[in-house]
Amino acid sequence: MTAQRLRLGVNIDHVATLRNARGGDLPDPVRAAVLAEQSGADGITAHLREDRRHIRDADIAAIKEAIDIPLNFELAATREMQAIARTIAPHAVCVVPERREERTTEGGLEVAADQNRLSHFIGPLRDAGARVSMFIAPELSQIEASARIGAPVVEFHCGAYCNFDTEGDIVAREAEFARLADGAKRAADLGLEVHMGHGLSYQNVTPIAALPEVAELNIGHFLMGEALFIGLPPALAEMRRLMDAARA
Ligand code: PXP
Repeated sequence: MTAQRLRLGVNIDHVATLRNARGGDLPDPVRAAVLAEQSGADGITAHLREDRRHIRDADIAAIKEAIDIPLNFELAATREMQAIARTIAPHAVCVVPERREERTTEGGLEVAADQNRLSHFIGPLRDAGARVSMFIAPELSQIEASARIGAPVVEFHCGAYCNFDTEGDIVAREAEFARLADGAKRAADLGLEVHMGHGLSYQNVTPIAALPEVAELNIGHFLMGEALFIGLPPALAEMRRLMDAARA
């Protein structure tokens, strides 16, 4: 298959993490979203968690207002989040699992075991015009269930692959990569758009970006960390360069 241009969604949650550590207004995640747009991001991703540990309700509304590129609103499948998403009317919603005690989104959504509820959850969002994606592990059962409930997009949690460092267990790392690659093929065969996210960095982005089925990467923590040292525009430019080089 011919690879399409790979989009870069920039997740700005951790600008809010830093702001909330001091309880004031700075640094401003809206400013980060605008700067990311000016620096070549194709979309902005933000996760309004149930416990509001980083992004808050007012941030989501302000980000939507401030940017001209698509907003990808990550949310748990709750009534509260569904209502907020319908008010905000983002370009896209990404349904993620959420557990209060986790530090970050640790695994994928159980779509196969929760099809009925999730299909009712995404229906109104789709009807309202949002492009819905399901954040899942690259497992056949989850991919097929996502297609069955009518989600047009799946985002694979690629953390299990990304968290291996380059010195680590090469065999296990290759097995995780094969799961992502095979899953991407299966999802594309089913007509699903494929995204990937979690743990992507300069070190590990190239093989993922080279998979021809992948249309979008969502990257946050690494880019914000890098931005502390070199600034957001150069951090983003380097990620973009690596993504383009992987596709060349
Ligand atoms: N995609 C989804 C659905 C996420 O929940 C997250 C954050 O956990 C990301 C992408 C970005 O991951 P990271 O911050 O590790 O780049």
